[in-house]
Amino acid sequence: MIELKKLTKVFDPGGVKAIDEVNLTVPEGTVCGVIGSSGAGKSTLIRCVNLLERPTSGQVWVAGHDLTTLGEKDLRQARRNIGMIFQHFNLLASRTVYENVALPLELAGASRQELDQAVQPLLELTGLADKNDSYPAQLSGGQKQRVAIARALASKPQVLLCDEATSALDPQTTRAILSLLGDINRRLKITILMITHEMEVVKSICDRVAIMSHGKIIEENAVEQFFLNPRTELAKEFVRSATHEKPVAEIEARFQAEPLAGARPVVHLTFVGQGVVQPLITRAARQFNTDFNILQADIETVNEKAMGFLMVEIMGEPGAIEQSLQFLRGASEAGSTVQVEVIGYVS
Ligand SMILES: Nc1ncnc2c1ncn2[C@@H]1O[C@H](COP(=O)(O)OP(=O)(O)O)[C@@H](O)[C@H]1O
Ligand SMILES: [Mg+2]
Repeated sequence: MIELKKLTKVFDPGGVKAIDEVNLTVPEGTVCGVIGSSGAGKSTLIRCVNLLERPTSGQVWVAGHDLTTLGEKDLRQARRNIGMIFQHFNLLASRTVYENVALPLELAGASRQELDQAVQPLLELTGLADKNDSYPAQLSGGQKQRVAIARALASKPQVLLCDEATSALDPQTTRAILSLLGDINRRLKITILMITHEMEVVKSICDRVAIMSHGKIIEENAVEQFFLNPRTELAKEFVRSATHEKPVAEIEARFQAEPLAGARPVVHLTFVGQGVVQPLITRAARQFNTDFNILQADIETVNEKAMGFLMVEIMGEPGAIEQSLQFLRGASEAGSTVQVEVIGYVS
């Protein structure tokens, strides 16, 4: 549905390459998250998707058209197929909720009756049915974002772009807005591209995730695979920040990177689904007569599936420890739902 090809944006003067030959495909009906640190180029990227920002080079395909080749009139038409919401909502203060949502249709010349027919269901969908006549100043942050979502959906777009849509909201409101966006994705089959620096967003509604750094996409994957097997250092950092694993000071103090004589391996197990890893550990312990000391454990919901993050120390005879490790490693072949990594040693 969205396909970016060798997309590049250089800001003059100064020649800052905000986007550097980015290729990204977002299939129809999916939710794709783009994460990255501040200044990575995320906002510029998403603004290039509806040509709010004109790319310096490359192509922007949305619903079968390369937007960079369209003239003024065709581009206006194509943009009606792309809704957008922002961190700070961008509502018009002098207009009521109804009038804000109606605005895109009014601009497109809709009649009063057409407005009513389109706006009322959107207010219901976004939980604002009783706020018709309220002004933005009378609404909470979450309600304002609901108005912005309703307005973005007014022209019945196939694509919704979200730039840090929940970054100004508290955690509870964030969850409610994410759940609304997930609902919209499923019910209206809208393709969503979400820019965010929050892993909460990625965990809760994204199917795929891409990481941006210095204008480039350095890693891209299905969200479970991303959590299971992050490849770049930045991806690993994001995954760690999304789980509630914290280095325990007592363990950290005796942690060593190299296996000195008599040291026991500390193994990090990541897995999708419940009941995946417990049998493995039990079997390894029985078969090789080793003990597993659980140092940390966390279960997170990622894309509606349970994912576990477990840190264990393997104790026993050196040969038995090695066999247990081999056994666990054998379970974590490519494409498997378990990943096993020795992250250090303790003695
Ligand atoms: N209009 C602009 N003019 C010049 N430089 C810009 C402009 N917009 C963004 N940049 C630069 O492009 C880079 C990426 O910015 P941005 O896309 O806002 O990053 P992010 O959204 O990931 O924080 C930054 O170095 C920023 O300073
Ligand atoms: Mg930004």
